[in-house]
Amino acid sequence: MDIISAENIDFYYGDFHALKGISMGIEENSVTALIGPSGCGKSTFLRLMNRMNDLIDNTRMTGNLIIDGQNIYDKKVDVDSLRTKVGMVFQKPNPFPKSIFENVAYGLRVAGEKDRYVLEEVVENSLKSAALWDEVKDQLKKSAFELSGGQQQRLCIARALAIKPKIILMDEPASALDPLSTSKIEDLIFTLRNDYTIVIVTHNMQQASRISDKTAFFYLGELIEYGETRQMFLKPRLEATQNYITGRFG
Ligand SMILES: Nc1ncnc2c1ncn2[C@@H]1O[C@H](COP(=O)(O)OP(=O)(O)OP(=O)(O)O)[C@@H](O)[C@H]1O
Ligand SMILES: [Mg+2]
Repeated sequence: MDIISAENIDFYYGDFHALKGISMGIEENSVTALIGPSGCGKSTFLRLMNRMNDLIDNTRMTGNLIIDGQNIYDKKVDVDSLRTKVGMVFQKPNPFPKSIFENVAYGLRVAGEKDRYVLEEVVENSLKSAALWDEVKDQLKKSAFELSGGQQQRLCIARALAIKPKIILMDEPASALDPLSTSKIEDLIFTLRNDYTIVIVTHNMQQASRISDKTAFFYLGELIEYGETRQMFLKPRLEATQNYITGRFG
């Protein structure tokens, strides 16, 4: 069953037609990579899934985006609870100016959780799931800014996990990181797929082929080809996909 279903989506920034007739389904507990040259609409499409584009003036969308059985652009939808279900991790790690503990506990505190025991348990479990616990367990009171970039990004993933989302959107989550941190994030994404649905934008073709179940190739606002990652990388249906994947353009 698809947990995300985009049905004929068009999106405009003012007069600019950024997404054209996008239809695609994303299965639960899978990793989907969005690839394509700069400006093709990957981030725009990703941001539609938790209504982050609502924050940009003078934009317009048509079509339907169904997430977990709900049309998320329906007027009745509560955007805060949507963003609890659909978490996001950005390109640059963006920890809050707080301790490691408080970064991860933040979402629960905002939701009114005060029980110290509950907070400690969620922080520990989230840091474990984000493969950061062993590195920080003795320094939870330290400022998040004292962590390395790669650790900060795993902290941001832990913060996203703490509010128990079903879906995690990641926009080039490893592009600002060194190779070792990148491979840690990749391993992490690979294990998280057992419990979460992950949609990730990446410019790194090896990364897409290593970690994703399905790959979607965008070009100039259109979804050109979408399929099993293995098949896309071994034998794409279209020449344009082949050219992009092998680095002949983009
Ligand atoms: N806030 C905005 N206002 C106007 N146009 C925008 C805005 N954000 C993006 N665009 C335009 O929409 C198109 C798609 O942008 P988007 O950021 O989705 O591309 P992308 O595939 O994520 O690119 P990149 O790989 O460089 O991140 C681009 O032509 C971009 O200039
Ligand atoms: Mg982008």
